[in-house]
Amino acid sequence: MAFPSPEREQWSSRLGFVLAAAGSAVGLGNIWRFPFKAGDNGGGAFVLIYLACLLLLCVPYLFAELALGRNGKRNPVGAIRAVRGRSPWSLVGGLCVATGLAILSYYAVVAGWAVGYVFRDLATAEASDVAFARFTADPLWVVPLFGGFLFATVGVVARGVRQGIERWAKILMPMLFVLLCLVTFRAVTLPGAGAGLAFYLTPDFSEVSGLMVVEALGQAFFSLSLGVGTMVTYGSYLPDDENLVVAGGYVAVFDTLIALMAGLMIFPAVFAMGQDPAEGPSLVFVVLADVFGAMPLGSFVGTLFFLLLAIAAFTSSIPLLEVFVSYLVDETTWSRRTAALSAGGVAFVLGLPSALSQGAVPALSDLSWLVGNQILGPSPGVLDLVDFLWGSVALVLGAVLLSVFVGWVWGADEALEEVRPGNGHAMGRWAGPLWRAAIRYAFPVTILAVLVVDLLYDVL
Ligand code: PFF
Repeated sequence: MAFPSPEREQWSSRLGFVLAAAGSAVGLGNIWRFPFKAGDNGGGAFVLIYLACLLLLCVPYLFAELALGRNGKRNPVGAIRAVRGRSPWSLVGGLCVATGLAILSYYAVVAGWAVGYVFRDLATAEASDVAFARFTADPLWVVPLFGGFLFATVGVVARGVRQGIERWAKILMPMLFVLLCLVTFRAVTLPGAGAGLAFYLTPDFSEVSGLMVVEALGQAFFSLSLGVGTMVTYGSYLPDDENLVVAGGYVAVFDTLIALMAGLMIFPAVFAMGQDPAEGPSLVFVVLADVFGAMPLGSFVGTLFFLLLAIAAFTSSIPLLEVFVSYLVDETTWSRRTAALSAGGVAFVLGLPSALSQGAVPALSDLSWLVGNQILGPSPGVLDLVDFLWGSVALVLGAVLLSVFVGWVWGADEALEEVRPGNGHAMGRWAGPLWRAAIRYAFPVTILAVLVVDLLYDVL
């Protein structure tokens, strides 16, 4: 049974919402994944395709999530019920809530590594891949860092939308931006940085391929935090007269800007230090640790960089927890504090196998007997498997189902009324029908195609 909360909290201002939602969007995905995806896929050409995917598919879908949330003033399950009553569609909301919690369970593990690296001396004699392997295999480091990071996330979410989430976004996002500028400045002023900039910024259209479009779309999607219901939840705290096109537009612009800047930070540094650009989450801790270890002022810049990474991960973990907490607060009689502590506890238990899967417990470190070596690369551990199942498959599936729900069940026209309050000027005469087409056809069909191609490619 739902307990309507008459005075549901709202963001105090548009800026508060934009910073919190941009905080969700800007995360580990922007700072490491985006630059290397771009680098591996023809630099500037990838960036252009990424921008097209963002504009044509992801941003229209972002408006749909925000509209659904604001219409129902509820968590994803409640927002769907507000439209359709009790129906099997509520399960889609349930999928979103579960996906958020599952992603949090391993995202916070990686975030804990970043926190650990803030305090490490990167200029040691030990090779950084050996040091990283030793660090992540040590449960006495990894588990407390993971637990502490989750506990801090609980602390913010427990204080509520304005006093917790919005307040911390207003402190941390400007900090993140300043740190990004500082590290980027150091990177582009290194001797030899030009080669990295050229590699990143020169579009190489000969590299354009179908798979690259798939990569660009997937990246745009993960980066905007879509498919997890975070934007439904954050939309539910928006006032009725807020223009979703403008508010959502800012979020997309911030996210893109920071992803592009992350490329400007990473490539010059990697090239100037004679490293090869490579791909994968653990490489932040290996390649960049080497880069910082060898660069003048490296220890200091390295500390700043890992602080930046930890902050970015923190502002993305908050909404992941908030989705489940808003569900508990809306649908039970629990207080926000109890809900946040319980949700954090569940995420901790769920995340322990991932935390212990990097060498601490051998049985969790290599699941190739279960999933083979094709889909997730050689010797996939629990963390890789959970990331793939929830971070890739469930997230995309949730988004397809939500877009079908908004476009066909709720109805694109109804939803459009919510997107442009007062039937106003938020979208011109052409934009409305275009949005309708995007949400009903282009988005679900393309995303589903991407999911199938991706799975086939991985398996074959
Ligand atoms: N957008 C985050 C990133 O780029 O790292 C990841 C993410 C956060 C995905 C929150 C989904 C989410 F709900």
